[in-house]
Amino acid sequence: MRLIHAVAELREALSGQRETAFVPTMGNLHAGHVALAEIAARHGRPVVASIFVNPLQFGAGEDFNRYPRTLQADCAQLEAAGTDIVFAPDVHEMYPEPQTFSVEPPLAGELCGAHRPGHFQGVATVVLKLFNMVQPRYAVFGKKDYQQLFILKGLVRQFNLPIVMVEAETRRADDGLALSSRNGYLTAGERTEAPRLYRLLRAAADRIIAGERNFAGIEDHVARELTDHGWIVDYVSVRNRATLLAPGTDDERFIILVAARLGITRLIDNIEC
Ligand code: PAF
Repeated sequence: MRLIHAVAELREALSGQRETAFVPTMGNLHAGHVALAEIAARHGRPVVASIFVNPLQFGAGEDFNRYPRTLQADCAQLEAAGTDIVFAPDVHEMYPEPQTFSVEPPLAGELCGAHRPGHFQGVATVVLKLFNMVQPRYAVFGKKDYQQLFILKGLVRQFNLPIVMVEAETRRADDGLALSSRNGYLTAGERTEAPRLYRLLRAAADRIIAGERNFAGIEDHVARELTDHGWIVDYVSVRNRATLLAPGTDDERFIILVAARLGITRLIDNIEC
């Protein structure tokens, strides 16, 4: 496996490749990321993973500075998962000049975007840059970041990028907690509490599958249960799964999305129903 820091070297290494499979990450990898790399390897070769903690997608007061940088351990995991190239640019390589063009995605001000202004502009901008650098045929993203995946699928469609977006199911711990690099911030007590999020989502999804259509009631119930157990809730929202808009009365495919904080840790999760 090659570790590459410079765009020019990456371009040279990938010149002529037409079936590259790409996994963009911010590092601090866990089993969910490893699964993404394995899925990538089943789609195309070479497999490229990027590791870049993107300052553009962090707001003031967020965890950009304390986001764990674990390049060596990340490379070992990616190599074991069959990755051919790790692309780890530094911030000057990624942004050699101030990034004055940016991408304005639809829905960027809703759900997570309402609580993290500028976040999805930053994500879409860096992913577009990474796509141009790597020029992959396949790009693999996890469904845990469902709004991100939705926005990036729109980016690929609307800018006619010749990339197949591969969606990967959320990987969970045995107790249901979605794997996330940020789980490492949880104290032992918070880690015990954290699986409540997915338990509540599953119960809410069961109600919808059984025919319940009082979405506001479901959202309130989940939010109240979390608040009662010490969480600070950003949002709980039932949406149309295909559009991510508020569901209409005839809709049949839904997704429940949630973001809430336990102590300093902001967790997100979702369930399709
Ligand atoms: O999901 C992430 O890890 C990041 O948002 C991404 C897609 C690598 C862009 O920085």
